Amino acid sequence: MAGSFAQLAKKAEQTKASISVSKEPDQSPPLEIYKLGDEVLRNQAGRISKVDVSIRDLAKDMLTSMYSAKGIGLAAPQVGIQKRILVIDLDIENPTTPPYVFINPEIISSSASIDTYEEGCLSIPAVYLDVIRPASIKLSYRDEMGRPKKMNADGLMARCIQHEIDHLNGVLFVDRVSDKDKLKNELNEQGFHDKDVKSI
Ligand code: NI
Repeated sequence: MAGSFAQLAKKAEQTKASISVSKEPDQSPPLEIYKLGDEVLRNQAGRISKVDVSIRDLAKDMLTSMYSAKGIGLAAPQVGIQKRILVIDLDIENPTTPPYVFINPEIISSSASIDTYEEGCLSIPAVYLDVIRPASIKLSYRDEMGRPKKMNADGLMARCIQHEIDHLNGVLFVDRVSDKDKLKNELNEQGFHDKDVKSI
C-alpha cells in the first residue's frame, strides 16, 4: 500500500513536472549565443523525435542563457543546436510566471491581418527594426513533457513565436526588413555587415 501510494505520488509528480529555472542572470550562462554572420544560424533545424530529459535539460540551459541575455525568446539554432525547440517568456521580470517551451512548433494558419512591430534578436544585439508579419497565428507543438498542444496566439506572443520559428528555418528577422537603407545603417552602426542578410 505504502509502495503503491509512493508510486502514484511519483507518477503525479512526473505528470505535473515542467521546467523550473531561475530568471536571475547567470554570470557564466551554459550556452553561447551565436551572432549574425555565424553560418550556424543559417542551418535548417531537425525535428525532435523523442521529448526526454535531455531535451528538458536543453530547454533549461536555453532559458538560463536567454534570461542572462535579457531576452524574451530563444531558438536552439541560436546556441548552435540544430533541433526544433524554442523557449519564450514574455514576463521575464516576474519570477513566478512559467516560461513556454515549444517543441516541433508548426504554424497551422496565419491571419490575413498584418502588424508592423519593431523586432530585436539576441543574435543581432542592439539592432531594432520594423518587421511586417501576420497579426495572429494558430500553432501546434509539443510541450516539455512531449504532450501535443495547440495555441491561438496574437500580439507579442504571435510575433515572438513567428520570429523564433524563423530561426528553426535559418531565417533571421533582418531578412524580412523592408527598409533596406535603414537596415544597412543600423547593422553597420552595431558592427554587423549587411552582406550577412539573406533575401527571402
Ligand atoms: Ni532572434
